[in-house]
Amino acid sequence: MSMTFGWQSPSNIALVKYWGKRDPQLPSNPSISFTLDACHTQTKAHFEAGQGVQVLLDGVETPSFVPKIEQFIGRIQHRHPWLADYRLTVDTFNSFPHSSGIASSASGLSALALCVVDAAQAVGHALLEADPRREASILARLGSGSASRSVYGGLVVWGETASIPGSSDHYALPFPHVVHPVFSNFCDVVILVDVGQKAVSSTAGHALMESHPFAEQRFAQAHTHMAAFKELLAQGDVFPFLDLVEREALTLHGLMMSSEPSYILMRPNTLHILEAIRRFRQETGTPIGFTLDAGANVHVLFPKEVEQSAMRFVNEVLAPYAKDGRFIEDRVGQGPLSL
Ligand code: PMV
Repeated sequence: MSMTFGWQSPSNIALVKYWGKRDPQLPSNPSISFTLDACHTQTKAHFEAGQGVQVLLDGVETPSFVPKIEQFIGRIQHRHPWLADYRLTVDTFNSFPHSSGIASSASGLSALALCVVDAAQAVGHALLEADPRREASILARLGSGSASRSVYGGLVVWGETASIPGSSDHYALPFPHVVHPVFSNFCDVVILVDVGQKAVSSTAGHALMESHPFAEQRFAQAHTHMAAFKELLAQGDVFPFLDLVEREALTLHGLMMSSEPSYILMRPNTLHILEAIRRFRQETGTPIGFTLDAGANVHVLFPKEVEQSAMRFVNEVLAPYAKDGRFIEDRVGQGPLSL
């Protein structure tokens, strides 16, 4: 039997950062993210009798991606033994440029996980999780931790924590508490400071948390921050929200700088952008802030209501710090779409 399933799945940006993990790909602390919209991956997965993996990126056969997909299949096979009888062709397309420095693992692996769950149901495999979306989140997590959050839209939580009933280290779930409408249409403009390969991968960064001198304090702090976000998201006061988001981003980079060995992923222009955002916020009273993932690029966050003045600021002040002036305009999105 041969079959094809397709999903479009978005990337996400964490507000409380997952940094540090244990086997099998379980987080050392809880995290919460905004699911994005424009930055997404479209994947068609074709299953036919046989063995092996083939990957097409933008229609071009890309053997360098095969080991990553084989590793993913190897990690999920205990939940999906039926995969052993199938040859998999993954035909994938990213809406954002591959060299942009935006991680495609969250969008790509969540899209593939959703395809695998569809295929499992088509071959009559009984899912270990009754809810197919939850099963997809578990599979995506086994591929890349942050991918577990991309199977839902809006605000998404991953990792067990007291302030979020039902939260789990094994799968993500939509943030279950009241959210003020100001957060439903947040904008995220990604300023592309450095578009090359990261000097230290996220995998290596997570591993350095195992012996990090501040690990325990950091993991405890993430739980406190999750509880604080619950209040801030309900109240809708954007300034303290942005303050906490920024401290989370700088904590992530502070952990990198205080790892052993120490490393720095921010670039001089990253700092110029952070300073410019804080100055603009202070001088104009505009609710605008930043977060960072594990790289040099800056995610500029602001509510839709101030989009006009924020975009003028991005174009005039921030874009000159970007590599070739490039940035990606994104926003909070609704989550994956079946193709
Ligand atoms: O999912 P990974 O292993 O690529 O790790 C992602 C880590 C951060 O992006 C820095 C934080 C997060 O929660 O997404």
